[in-house]
Amino acid sequence: MAMPAQKRDSVPNEDVRVIAITSGKGGVGKTHIAANLACILSEMGKRVLVLDADAGLANIDIILGLKPKYNLHHVLTGEKTMSEVIVSGPAGINILPAASGIQEMTNLSRGQKITLLDELNALSEDIDLMLIDTAAGIAGNVMYFNMAAKEIVVVVSPEPTSMTDAYALIKVLYKAYGEKRFMLLVNMVKNADEARRVYRRLSSTTEHFLDVFIDYLGYIPQDRSVREAILQQRPLVEIYPSSPASRSLFSVAEKLCREQPESYGGGGLKFFWNATINRNHG
Ligand SMILES: Nc1ncnc2c1ncn2[C@@H]1O[C@H](COP(=O)(O)OP(=O)(O)OP(=O)(O)O)[C@@H](O)[C@H]1O
Ligand SMILES: [Mg+2]
Repeated sequence: MAMPAQKRDSVPNEDVRVIAITSGKGGVGKTHIAANLACILSEMGKRVLVLDADAGLANIDIILGLKPKYNLHHVLTGEKTMSEVIVSGPAGINILPAASGIQEMTNLSRGQKITLLDELNALSEDIDLMLIDTAAGIAGNVMYFNMAAKEIVVVVSPEPTSMTDAYALIKVLYKAYGEKRFMLLVNMVKNADEARRVYRRLSSTTEHFLDVFIDYLGYIPQDRSVREAILQQRPLVEIYPSSPASRSLFSVAEKLCREQPESYGGGGLKFFWNATINRNHG
């Protein structure tokens, strides 16, 4: 566990960037992207925490060959502290396995909420950026993570169903939660032109029918080395740093750093957890 011991009664770090990686349709590459962006950003000197918020099976620990013993559930029951649950991964990244425990967060006692927020505030001292690997779709759980994150990256592939599901996701986030800004990342494309076409089509429809703004974050080409890295349970950007998909991931990470919102409004992490914990359904 790479994190320093937590300090009690610490002042939360208000500047933690919280970015959700999400999608309408499943299997578009969210987990792979979150894992690799985390590694790149960590190599760039950021202290990165990945929150695995997907209760599904193909989770980030499997993609990175990690075997976490505990998860958020153990923090909520008081058996473990946050720092005992967080595992360190490649490139110095930290992962909070939260797939188990997320549903429980709707039913916490006041005491449990205070303990959890305390732990999280302490944790915020040790990180600059949190990436949330969400499940796909528009279930309540996924919506809450997206709503609570200050930045939302929607991953989409050129498949028509992926695009219509991305539209549905953006529509719900806008109509039910008032989200207005999204970043679009187009995965598994043949080339930059195809990615731009996907972006143009999706952004023109959403911006026409909804009062939202879709920023183009970039694209990642279809690349056989992605599957190879996943089979080896190692980060693509470490084992094949010059593969086309890795090169694109490096540019996406740079763009994310360059286009950091000027004012984060403070309380990125605190806002996130408050919003997540205080939601009233899961
Ligand atoms: N750029 C790419 N080129 C080739 N294959 C890719 C690429 N990105 C992802 N894949 C393939 O897509 C599969 C699904 O990726 P991943 O598990 O990251 O998707 P996901 O969106 O997290 O899925 P889920 O919605 O189930 O959580 C991977 O196993 C990988 O083989
Ligand atoms: Mg996934």
